[in-house]
Amino acid sequence: MPTMTLRKLLITSALPYANGAIHLGHLVEYIQTDIWVRFQKMRGHECWYVCADDTHGTPIMLRAEKEGITPEQLIERVHAEHSRDFAGFHVAFDNYYTTHSNETRDYAVEIYGKLKAADLIAVRAVEQFYDPLKQMFLPDRFIKGNCPKCGAKDQYGDSCEVCGAVYAPTDLNNPYSALSGAKPELRNSEHFFFKLSDPRCQAFLRQWTRSEDRLQPEAANKMQEWLGAENENKLSDWDISRDAPYFGFEIPDAPGKYFYVWLDAPVGYMGSFRNLCAQRGLDFDAFWRKDSSVELIHFIGKDILYFHALFWPAMLEYTGYRTPSKIFAHGFLTVDGAKMSKSRGTFITAESYLAQGLNPEWLRYYYAAKLNGTMEDIDLNLGDFVARVNSDLIGKYINIASRSANFIASHFSSQLLDENFDERFRSDLPDLALAADEIAAHYEARDYGRAIRRIMGLADQVNQYVDHHQPWKLARHGGKERELHVVCTMLINAFRLLTLYLKPVLPKLAQRAEEFLNIAPLVWADAGHLLPPSHLINSYEHLMQRIDAKQIEALVAANRESLTPSPVAQPEPHSPQRHAQHQQHPENNMQTPTRPVAPAISIDDFGKIDLRIARIADAQHVEGADKLIRLSLDLGEGSTRQVFAGIKSAYDPARLVGRLTVMVANLAPRKMKFGLSEGMVLAASDVDGETPGLFLLSPDSGATPGMRVK
Ligand code: MSP
Ligand code: ZN
Repeated sequence: MPTMTLRKLLITSALPYANGAIHLGHLVEYIQTDIWVRFQKMRGHECWYVCADDTHGTPIMLRAEKEGITPEQLIERVHAEHSRDFAGFHVAFDNYYTTHSNETRDYAVEIYGKLKAADLIAVRAVEQFYDPLKQMFLPDRFIKGNCPKCGAKDQYGDSCEVCGAVYAPTDLNNPYSALSGAKPELRNSEHFFFKLSDPRCQAFLRQWTRSEDRLQPEAANKMQEWLGAENENKLSDWDISRDAPYFGFEIPDAPGKYFYVWLDAPVGYMGSFRNLCAQRGLDFDAFWRKDSSVELIHFIGKDILYFHALFWPAMLEYTGYRTPSKIFAHGFLTVDGAKMSKSRGTFITAESYLAQGLNPEWLRYYYAAKLNGTMEDIDLNLGDFVARVNSDLIGKYINIASRSANFIASHFSSQLLDENFDERFRSDLPDLALAADEIAAHYEARDYGRAIRRIMGLADQVNQYVDHHQPWKLARHGGKERELHVVCTMLINAFRLLTLYLKPVLPKLAQRAEEFLNIAPLVWADAGHLLPPSHLINSYEHLMQRIDAKQIEALVAANRESLTPSPVAQPEPHSPQRHAQHQQHPENNMQTPTRPVAPAISIDDFGKIDLRIARIADAQHVEGADKLIRLSLDLGEGSTRQVFAGIKSAYDPARLVGRLTVMVANLAPRKMKFGLSEGMVLAASDVDGETPGLFLLSPDSGATPGMRVK
């Protein structure tokens, strides 16, 4: 038996921002990393996978303010949502933590202190736009104005979406604050800088980015561009502080100054790992000290390469820590060849995918089939997704089990052939066991697409074997029992090996297959042997459903944001003119005239109303009715109820499908011109006020159809 040296690995995925939902774009990264981690663990290596929410910064502070909660409350809620979404896609972190933690604060403070001691921190005055109304300095993306180049209106402070020009916010004509509409003032403030222009940093990064294949070739080239030629000094100092109000860590001895979110974000990798060490009794220093032999690998998207390949290694190098062994960057997700889009319904959240009842392993499989080790973008082609999953996973792989299991059960009391099978297997399906090393090499190189092609090629060979031996015919003719037993034992063994190869990609399916095969969890070394003679298998239950193209249509419809007002849609940033009318009291902007409240009722009166969470399973226009939409509501009862709702003025039916709302479930059914209405959905409206529109209620995420609302 060849011995393999065991590796120690610490793996990270980028820390998602805590102000938004996980979407299918994010999942490219987390699924890519999770597959790699699962593969390493199957190989027997010691491998730890950590991540966290990236919780600091202005957008998170403002988002909390808008929701009327504290930033702490916001990040706590989002942490639960993100954890749920990742678990839903079987992304198995060893620790999913938060940057808003003592561990991360301690390392951030320590690193800052050491950089200062190494004379790598500078203090300089910076002139920046200040919003006199909100009383805060404005990040570039919160300043808008006319493009200095082409004059286009309402362009962001860093670049023009019309002509593509890149500029500083101070170059904008007629700048205004995207937060309040106020005209920003230029003000001076002291900022702290990490002196990347220091010759030490330049020399170190030049050498670091070039050696030991730490970066992919495309990434190394990018770095070369950013660093410039040997005698150039192209890196400028990095501004690592922000002024209050800010949600983050206050800088020691500098009241009112905070670490910029990107200073403490990568430190969050250390914080999360430190927290894991406390849970598992691991030695933090063995992983992070300068001479550590542990492989530290960061999986990231290509958009954040600059932070990970320049700032982060420099921070570590001058503070006595080890630097990353590798940085694996991937490309961006497109859907049907274009950027994800809310209006097209292709900005699909993880939550909505799962809520539509789609199997997360379908997506894991499809991404795996598309991924390689480069920074190229990957496309989720929705038609191809359906075809690929159905033809490969169901048609080629699952079928092998379903075609043989029943014969083993009905003809051979669930028992495999009572002979050592190795020789026969090697001569009839020679490639199947031999491909293990090659497939492993593809996984190792993150060339999952090639691994999948190889595995499906093996499945093709197995299916040819089935077609050649036609077990269903052997079963019909008497006297062919032994031959049938041989063929089916061959197929069960082949299915086991294919399951092993697919296990990093399809962990849940593999687990169910292991139950069916009646075996211990498969590890990579199991590719070296077959099932023992006379092995007993369990009864076969269908392992995976086919995708119906209609499910994808419903998913896209559920994510499509129509132009009609809806409580889910992102409000457009206010134009300055509109805002000028409300400037007196910004808090009062959203107020609606109220009507007197109805006479009091008792709790018993209220208790008579049975309010339930309902999922809108279908929504249709009603021929001949201008106000009504016909809803099919799912209350988790197994059947749906029909309700006619007068919400057509505000909602496009396609937009409603899939979402949750609240219904009165015990309202006596009412016969209407168009059919029976079996309940009522709840919506807010301001009937005699000035605010037009209707606003359907929806529960916080986590609620499921049928839950009682009280
Ligand atoms: N918070 C930072 C990362 C800090 S790491 C110390 C951040 N967060 S993010 O939520 O915007 O993105 C998290 C990861 O998801 C990034 O690696 C990013 O590249 C990746 N993706 C986000 N959208 C993506 C696609 N549409 N496609 C592929 N990956 C994408 O950046
Ligand atoms: Zn322009």
